[in-house]
Amino acid sequence: MRRREFLSLAAASLATPALNISRAWAAEPGAPLLIPEVMDIAPGAGNALDARRGTRDFIAGAASETWGYSQEYLGPLLRFRRGRIANISVTNRLDEPITAHWHGMHVPGYLDGGPQLAFGPGETWAPELPIDHPAATLFYHSHIHGRTGPQVYRGLAGMIIIDDPGIKDPLPHDYGVNDFPLIVQDRRFDRSGRMIYGLGMMDRMHGFRGDQILVNGVVRPKLTVPAGLVRLRILNASNARVYDFRFTDGRQFHQVASDGGLLDRPLAMASLQLDGAERAEIVVDFSDRSPVSLVSRDIRMGGMMNGGMMGDWGGSMMMGDRGMMGDRGRMGDRGMMGMGGNSGTPLEIMSFDVGEAAPAGPTRLPTSLPSDAPALGDPVRRRDFTLNMHTRGMMRGGMMGGDGQMMGINGEPYVMDRIDETIRAGETELWRINTDMMMRHTFHVHGTSFRVVRQNGRPVDSARIGWKDVVRVQGPTEILLRFDKLASEETPFMYHCHILEHEDVGMMGQFTVT
Ligand code: C2O
Ligand code: CU
Ligand code: CU
Repeated sequence: MRRREFLSLAAASLATPALNISRAWAAEPGAPLLIPEVMDIAPGAGNALDARRGTRDFIAGAASETWGYSQEYLGPLLRFRRGRIANISVTNRLDEPITAHWHGMHVPGYLDGGPQLAFGPGETWAPELPIDHPAATLFYHSHIHGRTGPQVYRGLAGMIIIDDPGIKDPLPHDYGVNDFPLIVQDRRFDRSGRMIYGLGMMDRMHGFRGDQILVNGVVRPKLTVPAGLVRLRILNASNARVYDFRFTDGRQFHQVASDGGLLDRPLAMASLQLDGAERAEIVVDFSDRSPVSLVSRDIRMGGMMNGGMMGDWGGSMMMGDRGMMGDRGRMGDRGMMGMGGNSGTPLEIMSFDVGEAAPAGPTRLPTSLPSDAPALGDPVRRRDFTLNMHTRGMMRGGMMGGDGQMMGINGEPYVMDRIDETIRAGETELWRINTDMMMRHTFHVHGTSFRVVRQNGRPVDSARIGWKDVVRVQGPTEILLRFDKLASEETPFMYHCHILEHEDVGMMGQFTVT
């Protein structure tokens, strides 16, 4: 793998000699993984977040301008307890409006932090959240219409853990000891090592992707884990990149939770795919003490320009992304179309060293898990959604696909004061989602968790997939869902593609629940 890496590096350098400088830092081994500080949201405990500016030397000696919630980059790990009321206040110390959206949490629309709940510079938003959600790993991030991509990229994002005092957690759960958050993001850096965001034509089409991986804000870090079972809570907090994680020695691991909480039982696997905003908790056995790395295969986004098929071990995106560095997409376009699928170099995510065994913690996986599985019953209604790469809407000053058109859903770009669907609380519905132009997208729904029942014409085992709030869509996809939390016309719930550059140009709709 070293050799392949070197070879493709050499190829990239030949194409753009300027990249030599930026690749030099990238080759350095990982710094220790930062473990986000915990903010236990409880009465009398910490509960104030400040959205503010900061700087971070992702690359030694090169300060990048970043944003964070009470940190220079990203935010603390918010810990909520089921059955409690959580008071949290978020103050905007930036110079543009932001929101704080609790992605995946089941709260009513007026607490959800969607685009209508924007608060401006100097303002504070202080929701009171009734925590009514099974134990899970969730996500929080800003959700400003038209600028979610750049705001999240700068750092307005973090992880949430919900604990359920009503269950006994049979999995490793000693935070920072045998239970680790991994917030995975891809970023681009310019030649001086500063983080950059700028959309070339291909970025607008497929979403913005970087060629360097950050975990908890550290470039390809190293983590020392105990010699035993370790739980990793993986959040794909990237704007658009899809990961297909596996370990370099091919070892098996078990998925124990997906977006909405625990699965019924641990699921053995050797690779795991996560689209943007998806979460998975996995348990890995490090008792053999061998150091290992976590890597990802490069996933293509499909669509006409890539020959239509997605999900091969093709490396074209990587070459494209490398080429794009510092030059806003020109090289990237060429890289992507011209070097189709022969690199195959896996992206390194992070590496693991193994220390002593932890003094406490489970040593074997349970055969079943205390999952939360209320039955949804049969749907009373069906709704259809098509994710459109082009609509009749025009983008102000935009150049999407060269014609200034916006993306959308069911032919319409998102409009903040139009309600697209009205839904009755407590009624189970079947939603059928598809895409046009053979593109690969995701579909995220606010306010509830859903079951995936069919994908690409075939029934799927919903129990193995678990409770979801984001699902990959690369063909007809059917989900079963029911809403119990209400959302008014003033603060509706959203459904959208979680490729943030698609969401920002209109691939979003909104609905009330009454
Ligand atoms: Cu993660 Cu509507 O968002
Ligand atoms: Cu969300
Ligand atoms: Cu999309």
